[in-house]
Amino acid sequence: MDNQKYITETIKLMQNHRSIRKFTKDQIPKEQIVEIVKAAQGAATSNFVQAYSLVMVTDPIKKEQLSELSNHQQQIIDAPVFFVFCADMKRLEFATGKHDIPMQYDTLENFIVSIVDTSLFAENFLTAAESLGYGGCYIGGIRNNPKQVSDLLNLPDKVMPIFGMTLGVPAENHEVKPRLPIDAILHENEYTTENYQRLLDQYDDIFRDYYKTRTSNAKDMTWTQTMATFFSQKKRTHMKEFVETKGFHLY
Ligand SMILES: Cc1cc2nc3c(=O)[nH]c(=O)nc-3n(C[C@H](O)[C@H](O)[C@H](O)COP(=O)(O)O)c2cc1C
Repeated sequence: MDNQKYITETIKLMQNHRSIRKFTKDQIPKEQIVEIVKAAQGAATSNFVQAYSLVMVTDPIKKEQLSELSNHQQQIIDAPVFFVFCADMKRLEFATGKHDIPMQYDTLENFIVSIVDTSLFAENFLTAAESLGYGGCYIGGIRNNPKQVSDLLNLPDKVMPIFGMTLGVPAENHEVKPRLPIDAILHENEYTTENYQRLLDQYDDIFRDYYKTRTSNAKDMTWTQTMATFFSQKKRTHMKEFVETKGFHLY
């Protein structure tokens, strides 16, 4: 199938995404960051609640501390700027407080709303930044120590750090990681598991070839092996308590 004629500049950019973890020493001008944030704000938001905030960390000492709290990821120190994306119900408390109406914020539904809003905002943010030639990487590692991250950034109750993101001028250029075959993702009219076995076998071969021939960090692994290992352990079980301390009781 010749789909080339449908590949717009935007689609090309998105299909060429790869996480960048090594950066030059170049800074990102503040005016560009402002435009990137405005583009991110263009993301759809559930009921227009805009339940997110972004903390931009440029202070080298704070970046070093955040790196330490995120499993010592060097990229946080090396990137000229590190962003922490937060699900935010605090501003809505101010908004609703103007009208003396008690706010019912701490439901599982509102928790989902704020995480979805934050994620859509973040992906728009990265795409906009990539369109300007920057590269970056999400950092879920901040959830290793969410309380310490929260304290370091002075995040109040109802504001939760969800993930970070390094951003800068790329100092590496590796291959795009092949995604799952379309047929494993795109279902028509109803969901089916019918082809998963075959598609996962197919994907394991593609994934193994990609990793074997990769210019950096080559390894002999399949995707299903990687997932089996990843899901063999419970991760970040402290999150439930942390979320509760932020005031989300999730009923
Ligand atoms: C929410 C989230 C958290 C992530 N956390 C980390 C992280 O802490 N460290 C890291 O090196 N990569 C992290 N990644 C990047 C993923 O490993 C990467 O997106 C994935 O392997 C696909 O590779 P690609 O982005 O180059 O296509 C994270 C990605 C997401 C979406």
